[in-house]
Amino acid sequence: MSAAVSHAAVEPPITPPIVVQTYGLSKTYRTGFWLNQTLTPLRTCDLTVYQGETFGLLGPNGAGKTTLLKTLLGIVRPTQGRAMLLNCPIGDRGVKRRIGYLPENPYFYDYLTGWEFLEYTAGLFGLSAAVKRQRIPDLIDRVGLSRQAARQKKLKEYSKGMLQRVGLAQALVNDPDVIFLDEPMSGLDPTGRYMVREVILSLKEAGKTIFFNSHVLSDVEAICDRIAILDQGEIICIGSIDELLGRQDQYLVKGRGGTLEVLERWVQSLTFQHGLWQGYLKGDAYDFMSSVRGMGGTIVSLELARPSLEEFFMEQIQTRREGDPPVDAPRKSRRWF
Ligand SMILES: Nc1ncnc2c1ncn2[C@@H]1O[C@H](COP(=O)(O)OP(=O)(O)OP(=O)(O)O)[C@@H](O)[C@H]1O
Ligand SMILES: [Mg+2]
Repeated sequence: MSAAVSHAAVEPPITPPIVVQTYGLSKTYRTGFWLNQTLTPLRTCDLTVYQGETFGLLGPNGAGKTTLLKTLLGIVRPTQGRAMLLNCPIGDRGVKRRIGYLPENPYFYDYLTGWEFLEYTAGLFGLSAAVKRQRIPDLIDRVGLSRQAARQKKLKEYSKGMLQRVGLAQALVNDPDVIFLDEPMSGLDPTGRYMVREVILSLKEAGKTIFFNSHVLSDVEAICDRIAILDQGEIICIGSIDELLGRQDQYLVKGRGGTLEVLERWVQSLTFQHGLWQGYLKGDAYDFMSSVRGMGGTIVSLELARPSLEEFFMEQIQTRREGDPPVDAPRKSRRWF
């Protein structure tokens, strides 16, 4: 009997359309009084971001994150390389209608109220009065501003967190397909940070692509599909959280009570502190749980034993510092004196 060849073959995974693609993108500034020194905040950056992704860009201060964002937005011209945004070369005017941007240090018109400012930015996108009437109060609610404050208070009277919320609202006023957020959690209290996370997650649910940078690594870990770490202008690693932190099968378990004999059977590298025991689980988690219950103990936590994004980040940066970080090649320049 001949083996039947199944034509219901395994379908290749569908790759979503590319939203951001960079090819050897670099930016060099001439600095110094005589413009005879150079500084390269971005070096041959190759990056792909797909539709619907929440992409996080991490890096220490001065790593070049804002420079990369501004280059993608066409605010800064690349010195070398090129990039495409929504299938158009960066800087394309048509694409600008489809993107939202929260700058790192947004500029606000002091004498406008939050509402007037949003009316103004909506006007820049040519939104109709009917759309504005619905969208502006929606956005004000979404970013957690009081409608009364938005209507009555001038922006110069807003707190830092309130300004950040207005900034986020203006980034969404045109219902963009791609949203660039430069430090969206900056200056926000815990409720504000929670609000930003929720807004990002709801944008993601609506199929939007979000490209943001942040120093709040716990938030990045919780909401990003993929991340890249930038250091001294170079992307030093890129991938999903699982790819970078590892998809370990080992569990770290903590608990209290029970008998040493049972614990030693199940838990490796067992230690005791503050009335709790902890160690790495040997064997099946469900069987372990019933054994702990059987010995009268309690499990306090059971989590995958892998480094946090913060630990991974620190390790990457430190390893690089110990290695040979790139330095700007001295540029030959004409001497004027
Ligand atoms: N217009 C400019 N002229 C000269 N140097 C610049 C200019 N803009 C940025 N730089 C330099 O480029 C480097 C990267 O700056 P960038 O703002 O991109 O860093 P960043 O990663 O966003 O840092 P942070 O986390 O502090 O916001 C810095 O050394 C900065 O001084
Ligand atoms: Mg920055």
